[in-house]
Amino acid sequence: MTHVAVLVGSLRADSVNRQVAESLRHLAPEGTVIDIVEGLADLPFYNEDVDGAGVPAAVTAVRERVAKADRVLAVTPEYNATMPAVLNNAIDWLSRPYGVGALAGKPFGVIGVTPTPYGGKWAHEDARRSVKIAGAIVVEDVDVSQSSIDVDVLHDPQVRAKLETALRTLVDFDADAATTAA
Ligand SMILES: Cc1cc2nc3c(=O)[nH]c(=O)nc-3n(C[C@H](O)[C@H](O)[C@H](O)COP(=O)(O)O)c2cc1C
Repeated sequence: MTHVAVLVGSLRADSVNRQVAESLRHLAPEGTVIDIVEGLADLPFYNEDVDGAGVPAAVTAVRERVAKADRVLAVTPEYNATMPAVLNNAIDWLSRPYGVGALAGKPFGVIGVTPTPYGGKWAHEDARRSVKIAGAIVVEDVDVSQSSIDVDVLHDPQVRAKLETALRTLVDFDADAATTAA
């Protein structure tokens, strides 16, 4: 089984990106477990003073969920031309301890939907740059920056095909080959 930890970058109850994340359960290749990591809203803002012994339970829970995954996928909108703070904050917690955080060595992809024509590509670029510093292996071919104003986008067969391809690309990614080549 391949476990994919999914980080959703929107906290909105009717979030299109959350619904995209949930739809992945139906689009995933056989043998894939989609684990939407809850609790990102419970993470305090990253603070080195509280990271160490006695780290908040919410942090430990999110770190453990991601650490046990084989792949990490962020599904996120864009806020002010970058990733939403909730995702950035989660990445900060997952980036520590430095070099051995939960993201280290993990194949990572990012996709998402926003209403603007670029579909949130700056958020996606920034997330890729950020997780690379945290030691993740960015799978650049996982690339869906979809422009849409509502959740009906999920009924569009072309969009579903793009999501399916992105997920398959992430799941099939050969992390060992990538590490050897680096
Ligand atoms: C504070 C804020 C800033 C935003 N900035 C951008 C932006 O820079 N680019 C963009 O494409 N959409 C931007 N949006 C629109 C969001 O992408 C849009 O609300 C999106 O649907 C949110 O995704 P969700 O449905 O998953 O919550 C912004 C929205 C908010 C609330």
